[in-house]
Amino acid sequence: MKKQKDTSSATSQVPGGAGLLVLHGPNLNLLGSREPDHYGSTTLAEINRALAQRAEAAGVHLEAFQSNHEGVLIERVHAAREQGIRYLIINPAAYTHTSVALRDALAGTDIPFVEVHLSNVYAREPFRQHSYFSDLALGVITGLGSEGYLLALEYLLSKISTDQG
Ligand code: DQA
Repeated sequence: MKKQKDTSSATSQVPGGAGLLVLHGPNLNLLGSREPDHYGSTTLAEINRALAQRAEAAGVHLEAFQSNHEGVLIERVHAAREQGIRYLIINPAAYTHTSVALRDALAGTDIPFVEVHLSNVYAREPFRQHSYFSDLALGVITGLGSEGYLLALEYLLSKISTDQG
């Protein structure tokens, strides 16, 4: 039987682990056209493609997931633990400033994560300057546009290679 092409966003497998998950919160599906002065003109598909290509080059499995719904994001975090995801990159978007529930999902599953924001949240409205995630994060990258995701990925790839000894 002819082998079917895998069309999922997954790339190759990390030995002994299910790799990385990139989680995007509400309205990030609109990237490219949404408030480009704050968020740039790169689309979410372009960001995810660049991340998948970089991870694949390092031989690491990477999946990306976006939702506009808090409960769906929470359930994706729970599923990540079942999958054995080693690290997360998360841009919780507006939930950064509101969601105790998504914070608790990350705390409860104990998956280490890097928090990323495209815009510099500290140079914007005061309500964006509080995050329910930052104190739990390995680190926070904010204001470097879509490159912030790639920088977070580089950091986690180096952690994965250190973890593997
Ligand atoms: C954001 C910043 C949040 O304040 C905002 O609600 C977003 C995007 C960023 O990437 O800059 O939706 O997380």
